[in-house]
Amino acid sequence: MQILTTAAELQAYTERARQAGHRVGLVPTMGALHAGHLQLVQAARAECDEVIVSIFVNPTQFNNAEDFRLYPRVPEADAALLGPAGCTVLFEPSVAEMYPQPAVLRFDFGELERVMEGAHRPGHFNGVATVVSKLFHMARPHRAYFGQKDWQQVAVVRQLVADLSFDLEIVARPTIREVDGLAMSSRNRRLDAGARSVAPLLHQVLAAAAAQVRQGVLPAQVQAEANATLVAEPLITPEYFEVADAQTLQPLNAYVSGRAVVLCLAAHLGGVRLIDNVVVE
Ligand code: PAJ
Repeated sequence: MQILTTAAELQAYTERARQAGHRVGLVPTMGALHAGHLQLVQAARAECDEVIVSIFVNPTQFNNAEDFRLYPRVPEADAALLGPAGCTVLFEPSVAEMYPQPAVLRFDFGELERVMEGAHRPGHFNGVATVVSKLFHMARPHRAYFGQKDWQQVAVVRQLVADLSFDLEIVARPTIREVDGLAMSSRNRRLDAGARSVAPLLHQVLAAAAAQVRQGVLPAQVQAEANATLVAEPLITPEYFEVADAQTLQPLNAYVSGRAVVLCLAAHLGGVRLIDNVVVE
């Protein structure tokens, strides 16, 4: 595995790979890697000749300076996991390398980002779209791999690719969970013992809500019961719980036959903000 830190090195590397007829896969991450990230690396390994993994804690997508400062950074441990997982190039740029000048361009994804993470984290998807666009230009991948844990992010990135005609394919992979159901997340490292012990409730609430959706319980009632369960746990402060169309992400008043539903939540446990979702086909 090679470690590259500049855009010029990465561009030169993938240009050579493409000229040699190799398929290039890109897995964008912010590091503090876990099995959720590694399955993306393994999927890329199975489908591509070159597997580029980027680790960059992207300042422009954090709407909260404290969250950015406390975001876990464990570069040595990450590098040790990536080689065995099949990564061929680890791209670890500095902030100055990614942002030689502050980005002025602003992305607006319309209705897609007026809800959930977009509504609750102003500027978040602008920062994601900015850095993902830069990484696409630097790595020139044939395929880029994302996790369904960030369902809205996948929708935004697909819109970005469509609107800007990026010549690549987006691959979305399922959410990997701990044995107790908690969705793996780099931020889980910041949970104290009390918060960690109640954290599986997030997935339990989603699973119970999914069962209600399958039984036809109306969205408003599903949402009210989920919020009531979350509020009853003193260590959890729910931020939102939405019953939405899985494609458009718009909140539902009723179900439409043949259209998948996504249940999404965000909640604070101690000082840590977690998100999770489940899809009901
Ligand atoms: P990060 O949170 O590090 O996640 C990197 C990728 O791993 C994302 O596509 C995310 O959806 C996926 N992922 C995280 N946890 C997962 C889990 N438990 N199961 C499956 N996939 C999981 O998402 C970002 O970084 C950033 O926004 C980024 C796209 C890198 C842009 O900065």
